[in-house]
Amino acid sequence: ADYQTNKRHRSSDEGQHRAAETLSAHRQLYERHFPLYKQPVEVGCFSLDSRRSFSNDQRQLLIECVCSALGVDFVTWRGHLTKVLTTPYETQEGWMLAASKFRGSIYISEVETEAARVNRETRSQRQEEMMYWGYKFEQYICADDVDGTPNPGGVVNTNEAFCTVVQTRLADHKLLFSGEVDCRVKDPDAPPAPGCYVELKTSAEICTPKQRSNFHRYKLLKWWAQSFLPGVPQIVAGFRDHDGIVVTVETFPTSKISQLIKNEFNCWKPTVCMNFCNDFLSFVKSVVKEDDPRLVYLFTWDPHRDVTYAVHRDSQYTFLPEWYIKDMSS
Ligand code: A3P
Ligand code: MG
Ligand code: MG
Repeated sequence: ADYQTNKRHRSSDEGQHRAAETLSAHRQLYERHFPLYKQPVEVGCFSLDSRRSFSNDQRQLLIECVCSALGVDFVTWRGHLTKVLTTPYETQEGWMLAASKFRGSIYISEVETEAARVNRETRSQRQEEMMYWGYKFEQYICADDVDGTPNPGGVVNTNEAFCTVVQTRLADHKLLFSGEVDCRVKDPDAPPAPGCYVELKTSAEICTPKQRSNFHRYKLLKWWAQSFLPGVPQIVAGFRDHDGIVVTVETFPTSKISQLIKNEFNCWKPTVCMNFCNDFLSFVKSVVKEDDPRLVYLFTWDPHRDVTYAVHRDSQYTFLPEWYIKDMSS
């Protein structure tokens, strides 16, 4: 039955042996029952220091756990999957995702679009400052250890990160991905990771019904997608005024977000996000057949368009590092 459904919304499916050329992102096509999404299990973690490099020991640990056959269909970053999940509702920003098959697993890595590059290079000072507010909020809310208290002084190094590595399954796609985690709850009896993790967010204070509606429609979609994927159960949000001062703090349980937005007219639906992701991964699987890390299948999507792809060999898009290929092959 799933195969039939897939077939209907691929524009030029040419039978069993040839992959479809494009994939529609039209949201109505994905209003089906919620696909199976297994509770994500943490299988590892790593840290990035202030220069964004692994420390020696942790690097060893990472290599240790990937040396045998991975046994997963996809390896990627949570942030890339978040973009896929929100695609049926995205009207502003497109994306480019590069995919290569190596030792049976498909690796997915993002390529910055021209529009995103221009955006990044022309950010105003106000925008730069506002971006920094989110990190500063983290500093105000978090302590370095259970007995400590937050120290809001000093400059935030935005390179430092703690990342969780989770394994899960979406329908018949086995996934292994990593995502940055902001903090964990203080309670020592909290459930094991990722159940003890907390996502921190800041957003503009909500003063009017229109602002509330926009918050539900746009912001909560991104927040939900980001936290649902790795199984982070709660989001602590700081609402800030025009000067960037947090005036209220509210906790949003990730699993309650879909109920919270139900009264919005024509609002986003988690099932559409997950079904689109499922079909996108099926599409990638049907296209990325050759096992060769030097071969990159570049998937491109722009708002109001279908997902398309092009194939590049030994190009600027090749992304799996030599050292990784060497270590995994030895
Ligand atoms: P806020 O989202 O609270 O503003 P994350 O919430 O994903 O842990 O990211 C922490 C902070 O990094 C964000 O806090 C924001 O300040 C900044 N940030 C993350 N992704 C960004 C993006 N795509 N553009 C601008 N700022 C971003
Ligand atoms: Mg974060
Ligand atoms: Mg955060």
